[in-house]
Amino acid sequence: MKTFRSSAQMRAWSATRVQSGKRIGFVPTMGFLHEGHLALVRRARKENDVVIVSIFVNPTQFGPKEDYSKYPRDLKKDLALLKKEKVDAVFVPSVADMYPLGVKAGNAVPIKAGAVSKPLEGAFRPGHFDGVCTVVKKLFDIVRPQATYFGQKDFQQTLVVKDMVARLRLPVRVIVCPTVREADGLAMSSRNVYLSPSERAFAPVLYQTILQAKNAFLKGEGAKSVEDTAKAVLAIAGFKVQYFSIADAETLASFVADKMPKAARKTAKPGRKWGVIAVAAYLGKTRLIDNVAFVFDRR
Ligand code: PAJ
Repeated sequence: MKTFRSSAQMRAWSATRVQSGKRIGFVPTMGFLHEGHLALVRRARKENDVVIVSIFVNPTQFGPKEDYSKYPRDLKKDLALLKKEKVDAVFVPSVADMYPLGVKAGNAVPIKAGAVSKPLEGAFRPGHFDGVCTVVKKLFDIVRPQATYFGQKDFQQTLVVKDMVARLRLPVRVIVCPTVREADGLAMSSRNVYLSPSERAFAPVLYQTILQAKNAFLKGEGAKSVEDTAKAVLAIAGFKVQYFSIADAETLASFVADKMPKAARKTAKPGRKWGVIAVAAYLGKTRLIDNVAFVFDRR
């Protein structure tokens, strides 16, 4: 397994793979890898000749009060895990290499995420998806993958990246893989290490609440009432909920009628729809997100 620290070296090596007609599969990560990341790597391994993984904690997607400097890192362990998965190359660039003019320079974040970045995470993490799009676009340009693998865990991120790929006509297929969970249902996340033992014990309530909400919604209860019940349940369990939203899984427009944009209300015809229940909540100092997507019949 090769490890590249410089974008020039990574770019040159990828170019030789592209020229010899290899299909490159790419998994971007911020490291501190767990089974969720490894599921993406395994899928990429199955579907490509060459698998490249990047490990880069991207400063421009963190807000000023967020956990950039505290974000967990363990490069040695990550490299050992990736070697076991028969990854061909790992790209571990420095901040200076990815942002040669600095992360605070004007136009450090030249790519703007589309409209689907605005609700949910966008409302609580302004600029987050511009940082994600900027780094993902730079990584695509260096690695030149035909296919790239993202987790459903970050549902809105998959929509934002697909939207960027479509708008910029990037020659890459975005493949979304299911969320990998702990045995008790908690979605795996690098940030789960922040949880204290008692917080960890309550954390699975997040997923359980989403499943209960999904059932209530599918039985015909209104979106507003389902959301209110879920928020109350989570508050009792000790979560500070930022959003709990039942929404259209393509646009993220809320299904709560009076929150629905006018245009969406007009097109809310009966028929088969794709929905998502997405939540972000603090448990102590740890911010957790999760979601479940489903199809349903709108009456
Ligand atoms: P990171 O949080 O490290 O996640 C890397 C990829 O792993 C993302 O596509 C994410 O959705 C996926 N992933 C994380 N936990 C998962 C789980 N439990 N099951 C399935 N997939 C999971 O997301 C990022 O990094 C960054 O924003 C990045 C795209 C690398 C840009 O900096």
